[in-house]
Amino acid sequence: MTFAPPTSDGPGAVRPPPSLDALLDRYRSVRGFSRTLCETLHPEDTVLQSMPDASPVRWHLAHTTWFFETFLLKPLPGYRSPHPAFETLFNSYYNTVGEQFPRAQRGLLSRPTLDEVMAYRSHVDSTLLEADLPANAASVLEIGVNHEQQHQELILTDIKHALSLNPLGPVFREPRASSTATARQARWISVAGGQCRIGHGGPGFAYDNESPRHRVWLDDFQIAGRLVTCEEYGAFIDDGGYRRPEFWLSAGWQAVQQGAWKAPLYWRRDDAAQAWSQFTLAGPRPVVGAEPVTHVSYFEADAYARWAGARLPTEAEWEVAFANEKVQGAFADQRIASRQAIHPGPATGADRQAYGEAWQWTSSAYSAYPGYRPPAGALGEYNGKFMCGSFVLRGASCATPSGHARATYRNFFAPDARWQFTGLRLARDGE
Ligand code: AVJ
Ligand code: FE
Repeated sequence: MTFAPPTSDGPGAVRPPPSLDALLDRYRSVRGFSRTLCETLHPEDTVLQSMPDASPVRWHLAHTTWFFETFLLKPLPGYRSPHPAFETLFNSYYNTVGEQFPRAQRGLLSRPTLDEVMAYRSHVDSTLLEADLPANAASVLEIGVNHEQQHQELILTDIKHALSLNPLGPVFREPRASSTATARQARWISVAGGQCRIGHGGPGFAYDNESPRHRVWLDDFQIAGRLVTCEEYGAFIDDGGYRRPEFWLSAGWQAVQQGAWKAPLYWRRDDAAQAWSQFTLAGPRPVVGAEPVTHVSYFEADAYARWAGARLPTEAEWEVAFANEKVQGAFADQRIASRQAIHPGPATGADRQAYGEAWQWTSSAYSAYPGYRPPAGALGEYNGKFMCGSFVLRGASCATPSGHARATYRNFFAPDARWQFTGLRLARDGE
């Protein structure tokens, strides 16, 4: 027999960006939220770099500004940068733009000061908001605000890591007392397999790595109706999970040995109380069994799933299961406005925790969708060149700003990364 040739790419992939005016409104609010995020920090907090993976908050504030200056202002006729040296200093990884100050040394710089970086932000904001932007600036502006939102999440995870190393247990933000809800029983959602489509093809913004929309073949599967909890993960620890190589990938077992991992990042054993505590953005707190486990690596997520007699979902399974789920959750800006903890909360009611609690590791290696082409020019370096050595995470976390989550979103990190708000949901084969 012959197979039918592909006939359609699915919903129209071509989409005009929102109007410049609408984007400038979004620009103002997203830039404003970066300032709100940092309002409880002291200048000393903003210069720390606690490890090469993390960057100083002050660097994030400058780099997001550099992005708009480099890709929107510098191409404008007559624009002259007041800080030519920032081109190298705040370039993260764009070789097309030029050299970069070494990433691991971002914490060694006392200048420009935080005040100078805030003045740089104001300069770029006022220039951009008053500029006569060409119509083709809209798509760059749209990437720029989404880029800043990614760095807002990194600001939270990076300052959390830095503060966690301080024996004083600093508090980033004090939430109102959180509820003591218990987690719902885990339920399985059955999904019928067959030919499915994943990837971005509809209206609304998406990064290049979410396209093209394409067909995938899935067998029948089940996916958990909520995230794995701390209580469940604690049972894995108590069962010797971190001491039993049979649950671990070889590279994962090596990471366990080298890092002397005994629990998720930020968990501390209080032997007297026979309980776990954890460092949070509200300082050290007891581990709450009903909350989703977070700050686990891909290796830990994979080992837990094997111990539990299940597996991680693939990214296609995740997307097919949650494609029609409303994109709702407790996102970072909403948590701050309502003084909720910036920390994942228990599954209550019918909430399946697709978004707004913890990113969910999938078993899918981060690589190109069939037909993917990075855009031409420097912005082609944004996502495509990292398609090696990382795994895809789906959903969104308590540190993700609202308006930044969608079913096709592909976050990605190396399998040993633990400092993001990363958790897991289980999957298994069959109906
Ligand atoms: C998608 C979160 C892995 O951290 O490098 C920031 C986001 N891309 N600036 C990263 C990003 C460009 C990216 N992650
Ligand atoms: Fe960036």
